[in-house]
Amino acid sequence: MYPVQMVDRIGTLVIFGAGGDLAARLLLPGLGQLLDSQRKSELRLIGVGFDPMTDAAWRKRVTTSFKSGGPIGDLAQAVIAQSHYMQADVTSPDDLRRILTAAQGTPALYFALPPAVTILACAALEKVGLPAGTVLALEKPFGTDLRTAEALNRRLARFVPEKHIHRVDHFLGKSTVLNILGLRFANRIFEQVWSAEHIERVDITFDEQLALEGRAGYYDKAGALTDMIQSHLLVVMAMMAMEPPSSLDADDLRGSMAQVLRATHVWKGDAVAAGRRARYTAGTIAGRALPAYAKEAGVDPKRETETLAEVIFGVENWRWAGVPFHLRSGKALVDRRQEIVVTFKQVPHLPYGFKGKPGPAQLRITLNPDGVQLDVNINGEGNPFELDRAVLDVDFGTGELGPYGEVLAGILSDDPTLSLRQDVVQECWRIVTPILSAWRKGAVKLDTYAAGSKGPASWR
Ligand code: BG6
Repeated sequence: MYPVQMVDRIGTLVIFGAGGDLAARLLLPGLGQLLDSQRKSELRLIGVGFDPMTDAAWRKRVTTSFKSGGPIGDLAQAVIAQSHYMQADVTSPDDLRRILTAAQGTPALYFALPPAVTILACAALEKVGLPAGTVLALEKPFGTDLRTAEALNRRLARFVPEKHIHRVDHFLGKSTVLNILGLRFANRIFEQVWSAEHIERVDITFDEQLALEGRAGYYDKAGALTDMIQSHLLVVMAMMAMEPPSSLDADDLRGSMAQVLRATHVWKGDAVAAGRRARYTAGTIAGRALPAYAKEAGVDPKRETETLAEVIFGVENWRWAGVPFHLRSGKALVDRRQEIVVTFKQVPHLPYGFKGKPGPAQLRITLNPDGVQLDVNINGEGNPFELDRAVLDVDFGTGELGPYGEVLAGILSDDPTLSLRQDVVQECWRIVTPILSAWRKGAVKLDTYAAGSKGPASWR
C-alpha cells in the first residue's frame, strides 16, 4: 500500500501495554517487518508497562518478537540496541509527562491496552497535553459500546486533531481485504453486476480453530459479536458494499466506508430474528482437547458470553435493497473458514435443452490462504449439454508486510487511510447496538456447540 514512500514522520514509537500479548505476538513482529522493508531510516522505541522489566529483558523480548516476523536487519538491530522500557501507570499524568519527555522527535503513542484502561489513559493525557503533531494509535475495541465510543471520541477531539488519531483495525492491513478494492474498482466486469439486481446474498465468515487462548480478561466481556463482527467484519462488509471512491486517499476512502455503514441496519429491523449466538462446550480440535468455554479460567459463565455469533444486516440503499449480508465469526470451530462469498442470482432463463440444474455463480474471496475463486456453470466434458461446475482459482500473493506492518506504516507516516475515522467506529457500534441489547436482555437463547464442531447442530 505504501510502496516506496518513506514512513519517517515519527521519531519515537511508544507502546503502552508493552508487556502484553498483543505487543509480543502482533505489533513488534509487524514493526520488525517494517524496519526490514527499507521504508524507515531511524526510530526510537520505548516500551511502557505497569510491571517492572529491565531494559535487557525488554530488548530480549523485542528481539524474539522481531525474529518471529522475519529476519532482523541492521536497522532493526539498531532500534533494539537503543530501545528501553519504562515502568509507569498510564493513567497518571505525572508518569505520562515522564514518558513524553523521554521521546525524541514527534512521538506516536500506541495504546495496546484494554479499552477501559485506554479511556482512563486518554483522560490523563488530556490533562498533560501533547507535543504538536503527536500521533495516537488506539486498538480495537474502541470503547465498549456506542456511548463510551462517542465519549472517547469527544474527549480525543478536545486535545488531538482527528487526522492524528489512528483507530486501528488490522483487517484493513490484510492484503486480501485491500485486494477487494483492486478487484472491484480496477476491473469493469465486477462493478457492473455488483448490486441487488444480480446478487442474491453476501456471506462474510471468519471461523477460527483458536479458542480463548488465555484472553478471558478481555474476551469474556466482549464476546464474538464485539470482538469480530462490530469491528473487523463490518469493515470488510463496508469494503464490499461501498460506492467507488474517487481516490484512495483517507478522506475519500473513509468517506465511502462511512456512507455505506450509515445505510446499514439489522436485517428487517428485527434484532431478535436477525442474529443467533452460541458458546462452545468441551471438545477436541486437531487432537487438542479443549475445556468448555464456561470452565476456562477467568470466565464468568453467568455472563453468557457468546463464542460464535451470526448476524444478518441489510444495506438500505438503491444498490443493495433486499440483499442480506450474513456476518459470522466464532472460535473453537472445526474449520478455519475465513472468506467472503458473493452468491449471484440464477440466470433469468436457462435455454431449454440443458441437462442438470445449475447452481448460482459464486465469487469467493478467501482470507487464509489469500485468493479468489469464481465458481461457474459450464458445459460438461462427457455430454456437452449436461451442465458441470468449474472453479477459476487464483492465489493472491501475500503482501510484503503483514497486517500489523501495514498498520504501523500508516501510523509512522501519519497517513490515516488504513485506520478508522471517528464516524466509522461509531456507525459500527450503532449498527450492532440493537443486537447487543437483545442478547443482553436474554431475548435470544444461547445455543451450544462442541469445540471442534461446525457449530450448533440446530443451525445447519
Ligand atoms: C483479533 C481478535 O482482533 O482478531 C481475535 O481479538 C481474533 O479474537 C483475531 O482471533 C483474528 O485476526 P487474525 O489476523 O489474527 O487472524
